[in-house]
Formats: sequence, C-alpha cells, structure tokens
Amino acid sequence: MAKTIIISNRLPVQLQIGKGTINAIPSVGGLATGMKSVHKGGESLWIGWSGLTDEDIHISLAPKIDEALAKHGCTAVNLSEQEVEGFYYGFSNRTIWPLFHYFMEYAEFELDFWETYKSVNQKFADAIIAQSDDDDIIWVHDYQLMLVPQMVKEKKPNASIGFFLHIPFPSYEIFRTLPWREEVLKGLLGADLIGFHTYDYERHFLSSVRRLLGLEVSFNEIYLQNRVIKVDSFPMGIDYNKFSNAAKKKMANAQRSDLQEKLDSHKASAPGTKLVLSIDRLDYSKGIAKRINAFEYFLNKYPEYQEKIRLIILAVPSRSNVPQYQLLKREIDELVGRINGELATVNWTPIWYFYRSLPFDSLIDLYTSCDIAWLTPLRDGMNLVAKEYIATRTKGTGVLILSEMAGSAYEMNEALLINPNNFEEQADTLKQAITMPEEEQANRIEILQKRLSRYNVEVWANSFMETLIQQKEESPARVAK
Ligand code: ADP
Ligand code: F6P
Repeated sequence: MAKTIIISNRLPVQLQIGKGTINAIPSVGGLATGMKSVHKGGESLWIGWSGLTDEDIHISLAPKIDEALAKHGCTAVNLSEQEVEGFYYGFSNRTIWPLFHYFMEYAEFELDFWETYKSVNQKFADAIIAQSDDDDIIWVHDYQLMLVPQMVKEKKPNASIGFFLHIPFPSYEIFRTLPWREEVLKGLLGADLIGFHTYDYERHFLSSVRRLLGLEVSFNEIYLQNRVIKVDSFPMGIDYNKFSNAAKKKMANAQRSDLQEKLDSHKASAPGTKLVLSIDRLDYSKGIAKRINAFEYFLNKYPEYQEKIRLIILAVPSRSNVPQYQLLKREIDELVGRINGELATVNWTPIWYFYRSLPFDSLIDLYTSCDIAWLTPLRDGMNLVAKEYIATRTKGTGVLILSEMAGSAYEMNEALLINPNNFEEQADTLKQAITMPEEEQANRIEILQKRLSRYNVEVWANSFMETLIQQKEESPARVAK
C-alpha cells in the first residue's frame, strides 16, 4: 500500500539519553506540533534528525534509539556534531533563517556552511530514496531541506514530491543577495507542488524563479521541459479540537493546578487585574525585546494600570549555540531585570519571565487563564500560538493582539492587529484590549473560532496532498499540449 513519507529536520520527538534509557521529549515549533497531528492519523513514516549526534550515541544504544523512534512512526537520519554545526546551526540558522526573516545584517554567507548543508541534504535524500516505494508520496518540509526535492527527483523521476516552506519566502530584493540563490531554487524545483503559508510568500518565490532562472512562470505554475510545477498557498491550521477540548476539560475540572492557583491569586489581588500572555521560542524574529520595551512604554503612558496588569513571558530555549540567540537571551534577561527592578512594588511584579519549555497541560493553563495574548513577531511565517490561544477561549472571552507581520494575521482580521515597531500603537492597543467590553470580545472570538475550526490542520494537510496528487496526474498531459 502506498504510504506518505514526511521528511523534516526535526522529528515530532527529540531523544535524550538518560541513565541507560532513552527519553523521547515532544518537540516545540510549528512544524512539529502541526504535523504531529497529521502523522498520528494516517499511514505515514516520518524521517528526520533525532536531536542526538553520532558522538552522543554509543554503539550499544543504537537499537534502543531505533526502537524509541519506531514507537512514534519515525526513523532517524544520523548526523555528526560537525554536520549539525554546519547544516543546522550554520547554513539553516545563521544564513537562511535571518535572510528569510528580513534580518539581513545577521545573515552569514560561509562557504563551509553551504557545503555541509548540501551534503546533509544529500543524506536526507538518500534516506528517502532507500525507504520509499515508487508509488509513495514524499512530503518534504522547510528551509533546512530545500535541496532535497531535486536530489530525490534525480533518482526517482516518477516520485510524487511535495515541498512546504514553514517560514516566509522573502522578496526578490532580499533573496537575490544569497550567493547560492540559483542552487536553492533549482533544489526546490525538484518538487511537483511547492506550498507556502501565504499568497505573498508564493508571489515572492515565483518572482525569484522568473528573474533568477528565467523560467516560464504563469499565475501559479512553473513550466519545465518535461513537467509543470504547481505553486500555491496553504495557510497551516491547528489541531483545533485538541486545544478546544483540553480547555473544556480544564473548565469542567474543579481541581485547579498549582499554576492555575497562582494565576487566579494574581487576578484576585485587585479588581480588574489583567494577565497578558506572550509565548514564543526565544528568537529575534519574534520581537520579544521590543514587546518588553513596549510594555514599559505602556506602563509609563498609562500609569493607572500599574499594579493592575502583569505580563507573563514564556520563552522557549531555541538554537542556543547561535551567537544572536545568546545575545538576545542576555538582552531579555537584562530588560526584564531592569523593568521589574524599577517598577515593582511590594505587591506587584510587572513581568513574570519563564525561560523553559512547558508540558501541554501547563500551556493550556496559561492560554485559558490569561485575558490577553500579545504576540508581536517582527516576521513570522505563520504563528500557530495565536491560533491555539483562540481555540482555548471556550468561554468566549479574551483578546488577541497580533503583529501584522505574522502569516496568521492574514486569516485573523478580528484580532487587534498592530505594527510591532509602533510603540504608540502597541500601548494604545493594549489599553483597548484591557477595556474591551465582553460582548465585543465574544463577537470577535466567535468569528475566529468558526474559521479556525473549519480550516484545521487536517484540512490543511488534505488540501496539500490532494493538490499534489492532482498535479501529478495532470502534469504529463499539460506538457504534451
Ligand atoms: P515557531 O514554529 O516559529 O516556533 P509557532 O507559533 O508557529 O512558532 O509554533 C510554536 C509551537 O510550539 C506551538 O504549537 C506551541 O504550542 C508550541 N510551544 C510554544 N511554546 C511552548 C512551550 N513553552 N512549551 C511547549 N510547547 C510550546
Ligand atoms: O516553524 C519554523 C521552524 O523553523 C520549524 O522548522 C521548526 O520546527 C521550528 O521553527 C523550531 O525550530 P528548530 O527546529 O530549529 O528548533
């Protein structure tokens, strides 16, 4: 029977070695959390990196590792420390990530990174070639693996290959600065279907293909000599019921968790007290430092809210070997320390800051207990946290403040959309959120919930797969014309 092969750098679980044991920890990040729901429901094999390096793995542990991954329907591509350095920390996260998020000044163009990226992409492609049958559908994910489609197509010209990019595709003027721009585009063109979160990313990609490769491009197709490639936008959804049901279960449970108790006690401290939530991986693209500065600006502009509002920042450790992430960590530590030091009173600390990953249950506690979610990425391919917050607001209250630079803003017009660089607007919008009547909150949330429950992650995956299958069927006839 034909199966789907999902391939991404990060698997849905990360392995850690304990004392003679292997522990599987759920991965954080939109790709892993979203695709996990798709993978669970179907006949698929997921190929990716386990999070361990060859140097971590003693030979005696190898069978246990395979076993631990097999339980999750996964199989590993093993990488050495040097490969992880050049491929993951290097080209993926010091070249492509900053460039595609418009942080040009952070992008490093190192030949060594590029060489390792190519050889590791070949490793992933070889794993697919070895483990796939001719009628399998191969779905490659994200910027870490942009050369894989072409590498697989070369060896398996009849394979159905889809590629989805989970981050923005930048405008041509940014993309053209990449020294290996043609190679990256040609790598992607091994796919039969290339998907993006938004129409704008799709448009930017097509413009680069036309201008850099000189290929014939129509509205959303690219014509090669022997096949037609489809390019389309598929805004990723969430596993809506998982979040909504978890929230309902919480509401029905009279027993409160320690975290809920703590959050409740803050709200009970003074009438009208509000909790504002900010959750992201600790990444400069998420605009966390600017958000903290904007919060200070708000507290100074509207001092009547001091002691009546608390910002909860949950920052998940991410890519901590990359210097920009280390600098950002220091910047945020200092900012939080300074603001709390200057403004705190005996009864009030303005910011609660957690630098860790939390279990799903605690995430739901935070989503359901906080009155406002404040998400201000400077650039974000999608931002699933915004969608998850809305799905958990089963009582119909809560306000989402969302950056217009997030892909999810295109589908969430009923949120309060802001430009993260405009402090004046951010402060005023925070005030608007605090004072928004419950009826208005309910109206906005109801529309958003309807949309998110309809366009959930399953619909997203099915729509991508159906388009891929259709494209494969139609492409030969189209070329013959
Ligand atoms: P990105 O993919 O850039 O990390 P998204 O907002 O699209 O950003 O996805 C983040 C995902 O990680 C969400 O599904 C969210 O539930 C999950 N997540 C975020 N913070 C935590 C945390 N502290 N603990 C566990 N999961 C988290
Ligand atoms: O959503 C973008 C993304 O880069 C995914 O590819 C990835 O799963 C997530 O963010 C987290 O990043 P990382 O895999 O580097 O921890």
